[in-house]
Amino acid sequence: SNAILIGAPIDSGQRYPGCLMGPSAYRVAGIAQAIRDLGHGLQDWGDVTITDLKPVTTPNPAVHSLPETVAWTETLADRVDDALSQDGLPIVMGGDHSLALGTVAGAAAFAKRQGRPLFLLWLDAHSDFHTPLTTTSGNLHGTPVAYIAGRDGFDAFPPFPEPIPPQNICLFGIRSVDPAEHAALLTHDIAIHDMRVLDERGIVAPLREFLTRVRAAGGMLHVSLDVDFLDPSIAPAVGTTVPGGTTFREAHLVMELLHESDLVTSLDLVELNPFLDERGRTARLMVDLVASLMGRKVFDRPTRSHM
Ligand code: ARG
Ligand code: MN
Ligand code: MN
Ligand code: MN
Repeated sequence: SNAILIGAPIDSGQRYPGCLMGPSAYRVAGIAQAIRDLGHGLQDWGDVTITDLKPVTTPNPAVHSLPETVAWTETLADRVDDALSQDGLPIVMGGDHSLALGTVAGAAAFAKRQGRPLFLLWLDAHSDFHTPLTTTSGNLHGTPVAYIAGRDGFDAFPPFPEPIPPQNICLFGIRSVDPAEHAALLTHDIAIHDMRVLDERGIVAPLREFLTRVRAAGGMLHVSLDVDFLDPSIAPAVGTTVPGGTTFREAHLVMELLHESDLVTSLDLVELNPFLDERGRTARLMVDLVASLMGRKVFDRPTRSHM
């Protein structure tokens, strides 16, 4: 495929400065060459910037950086839509998770024009199901899944092009959910493969169930990979570490299954904070995971299994 790197140096969705260095860290860690080495085309569109901020407001005084977040949302939605329209596979290098407000909106706008359903795989310790009205931290990186699912409270944002039906959303690896998110999730039919489920069933069966549904629907698939999906012992460079994350092998297996499915149409890499890293190990791990998603194998066999 034709991968398109898009840098999204966003820090405004949370309060731990450093995520804005993410795109540089991925480039230093060799993301472009890793993808080219697998035989794919690759363009790097550089880093996105925002220009005019609108004086938007929300009644929740905890919320910060709303005008910046709205501007990133508009700009990134346009960029991802452009990349998909050029038959590319956008790989958005964050930047905190608030960038997914825009990237998934862009994918949804494209999918809508194509008349194809969009599915969302959210690889994260967190459910990110707050709205600007329910967040107590005020950090908008905790809100994208609610925006994508069409929840109320996003008046300051562009209307989401075609909200993703809850049944097309899969939260995978979660182990930190706030009370207001929990209450809202109970009223939405979202597939929740929390860590308790993955402990019992493993990675493969729940993921295949979801991928089977994507394939049966002829869907597009957006994957949003938060660094804190991984266990902090292997991925320390993130502001919101939660113990008990996925292991090195589990995370690679997820990526390998995604490659074999051939279903992924756009990808976010979010929450890497290089300022918190140990000699680049988290950035390198994330690049290696992208390589597994793009087809790097432990042992390459001539026949290729489909899911
Ligand atoms: N639920 C918490 C909050 O709203 C944590 C969100 C963490 N999100 C993330 N993308 N890392 O503040
Ligand atoms: Mn455009
Ligand atoms: Mn997240
Ligand atoms: Mn998270």
